[in-house]
Amino acid sequence: MDQTSPPARPPQPFDIDLANSARVWNYLLGGKDFHESDRDRADEMLSRAPEIKTVAWFARSFTLKAVQMAADAGIRQFIDLGSGIPSPPNVHDAAREIEPTAQVVYVDYDPVVRAHCDALLAKPRGISALLGDIRRPHDILDQIKIHTQIDFNEPVAITMIGVLHYVMDEEDPAGILATFRDHMAPGSLLAITHGSSDSDPEILRVLTGTIGTSAQVTFRPAAQTEAFLAGFELLKPGVVPVQDWLGPGLPETRMVMDGAIGMLP
Ligand SMILES: C[S@@+](CC[C@H](N)C(=O)[O-])C[C@H]1O[C@@H](n2cnc3c(N)ncnc32)[C@H](O)[C@@H]1O
Repeated sequence: MDQTSPPARPPQPFDIDLANSARVWNYLLGGKDFHESDRDRADEMLSRAPEIKTVAWFARSFTLKAVQMAADAGIRQFIDLGSGIPSPPNVHDAAREIEPTAQVVYVDYDPVVRAHCDALLAKPRGISALLGDIRRPHDILDQIKIHTQIDFNEPVAITMIGVLHYVMDEEDPAGILATFRDHMAPGSLLAITHGSSDSDPEILRVLTGTIGTSAQVTFRPAAQTEAFLAGFELLKPGVVPVQDWLGPGLPETRMVMDGAIGMLP
């Protein structure tokens, strides 16, 4: 993607009268930072697919597991892209439980998220929040280099949880990931989740409808999610529903949210 040209579609309007993905997600996670339009949209989704709330928590547990794996492997720097409104436990909670001095950068393109990060995190030392659009990866990397202590010569863990399905094919999601990958040192880790096109067709209808929301989503097959991790060693169990990363016995869900973790050799 040519970084000097604008993204293929304009950023979200972030109109408070329209449901917004960050605030809908906050509602699904049991947060309190949403508007009526977000609650209405989430309730409408839940009335047709109540398991979405469970999937949201499976995805959060997957995030925490990935962060713990990275911290256990000695990674001390974390970048959460498409971070959403803070709703504990967050990436820094998991990272700092293992390494109290871990550096954490939260990035989201929604100014509301940035404001909540500033207010709720109170930004202890080593935790930053940046406004950035993952469709402009070079801008984000420049900001990280200017405004944070992240050292790209050292391994870093990047989490992209529930954000890549907002990037359309023509916006080159594989190119975006390659740009981040090319800045990551050997031993770095990338964890992603992605809405799967293997989800039940009724669920796909509920979730991909753009009516009443300001966000457009595209669900993709597991093979495409795997291709996004090109250049990384895919860790076991591979690209599988997020709950399969968490242990046996968790229920299958009609909404399939794939999770994958790659380590850069
Ligand atoms: C479904 S929420 C997930 C939030 C968080 N990752 C979590 O798991 O709780 C998706 C987030 O991605 C953000 N987002 C969507 N498209 C984005 C983009 N192009 N660049 C940066 N953030 C984006 C939204 O603002 C929202 O906060």
